[in-house]
Amino acid sequence: MRICVIGAGYVGLVSASCFAEMGNRVVCVERSPCRVAGLSRGEVPIYEPGLEVMLKAHLASGLLRFSTQLEEGIAQAEVVFIAVGTPAGEDGAADLAHVLAVADELGAKLNRPCVVVNKSTVPVGTAERVGQRISAGLSARGLSFPVRVASNPEFLKEGSAVEDFMRPDRVLLGCAEAETDDLLRRLYAPFLRNHQRVLSMGIRAAEFSKYAANAFLATKISFMNEMAGLCARLDVDIEDVRHGIGSDKRIGTHFIYAGCGYGGSCFPKDVRALIRSAELEGFEADILRAVESRNALQKTWLFQALREHFGGHLQGRVIALWGLAFKPGTDDIREAPSLVLLDALLAAGARVQACDPVACAGVAKRYAEALASGHLQLDESPYSVVEGADALVLVTEWKQFRQPDFQRIRASMRMPVLFDGRNIYEPRELAALGFLYRGIGRPPAGHCKASAA
Ligand SMILES: NC(=O)c1ccc[n+]([C@@H]2O[C@H](COP(=O)([O-])OP(=O)(O)OC[C@H]3O[C@@H](n4cnc5c(N)ncnc54)[C@H](O)[C@@H]3O)[C@@H](O)[C@H]2O)c1
Repeated sequence: MRICVIGAGYVGLVSASCFAEMGNRVVCVERSPCRVAGLSRGEVPIYEPGLEVMLKAHLASGLLRFSTQLEEGIAQAEVVFIAVGTPAGEDGAADLAHVLAVADELGAKLNRPCVVVNKSTVPVGTAERVGQRISAGLSARGLSFPVRVASNPEFLKEGSAVEDFMRPDRVLLGCAEAETDDLLRRLYAPFLRNHQRVLSMGIRAAEFSKYAANAFLATKISFMNEMAGLCARLDVDIEDVRHGIGSDKRIGTHFIYAGCGYGGSCFPKDVRALIRSAELEGFEADILRAVESRNALQKTWLFQALREHFGGHLQGRVIALWGLAFKPGTDDIREAPSLVLLDALLAAGARVQACDPVACAGVAKRYAEALASGHLQLDESPYSVVEGADALVLVTEWKQFRQPDFQRIRASMRMPVLFDGRNIYEPRELAALGFLYRGIGRPPAGHCKASAA
């Protein structure tokens, strides 16, 4: 098929490349000329495993092109995907400025029938608004041909986005007409050869399902974080509890890890947008509010624990920080817990030595002043950032942090203190190595296990 994907961010770039991989002709339209120039040379502006190889292959095969010109993208497209950002607005509602701007531009430039598909995460009713804007643009130009608008929310996860797109758990289609549903089913058929998990539903239900999915996952995380807070007071290890409940199939093992809070470009804004949608309907979303406030609190946990450990004074302390991306496998730092910690540490006068395999560039841009003044140092080596540190804080559980050489670390730190924001280490092992270890919702090292034995 001939496809146009609008927006070359995490979702747009992955979708465009994967559609090309299946033999479709794809033009990816992006408003940033600099991004388009780089992409056209095969330079991928984000870190996403497997993306660069695929993108380069299809630039070479001619199946994938990048352009700043919408006209070029839509000239022959049968399907036009909107994959632009929908950040949180000031009141928490999804800011639809980019999506609606695309709709206006489509209304001003489309010259032939096509199907417009919303891949961006958008509130219920947005497809209708997009359709109205496009129709208004067409009729202002004296044109009237069918432009069908459908919803196809995206469920890829940063860090495994290519894999997720190539082998989706499910594809959700919200279409008003059977022909549109058929067309999109044909487009997705090659991605679903081993299991036909295409779920067709109404447009509004598809739009809502995306928010409900993210809100549910965020709820699981906040629930476990709340349990961890209680565990810490009751002398119970949340990790034992995680195993204890995760073995129940109705609960499952995913997304029940206590930690220093969720971040990223989706959960925080999507939970807020859903709360705002509820408000606008005069409906009290108590659970969602609790999820959001537990998460905000959780993001401050590491700082509070550090401050308490150092008797309320962090001035001049050297803190090593492992992991800046909001989760492993991505360079995305949007709403990352690391930023909340960094802000608080710098404000308290600490010196931070931070490391991340791929997210340092984004952090460097944001903290240019702290870098220039020497209050923040960034390095890709986990070992150099622990040199002379008063404490090490694990924020993002990248694989390379899972089994480090703790003896080497202990020897180079000023004090062997470790705050584990993701509970990836074994408290007793760390204690045996001479570390003072603190995890989230975990009793002091070995205590519980010893009493259990
Ligand atoms: N990032 C994820 O993991 C993820 C997963 C599922 C769904 N989503 C949703 O997908 C949407 C896109 O997310 P993202 O993370 O890819 O965003 P992003 O911010 O990484 O990328 C959006 C891109 O769209 C471009 N853009 C904006 N307006 C444009 C216009 N008028 N014409 C052409 N390009 C334009 C921007 O310059 C940017 O490059 C959001 O609604 C998000 O909630 C994201």
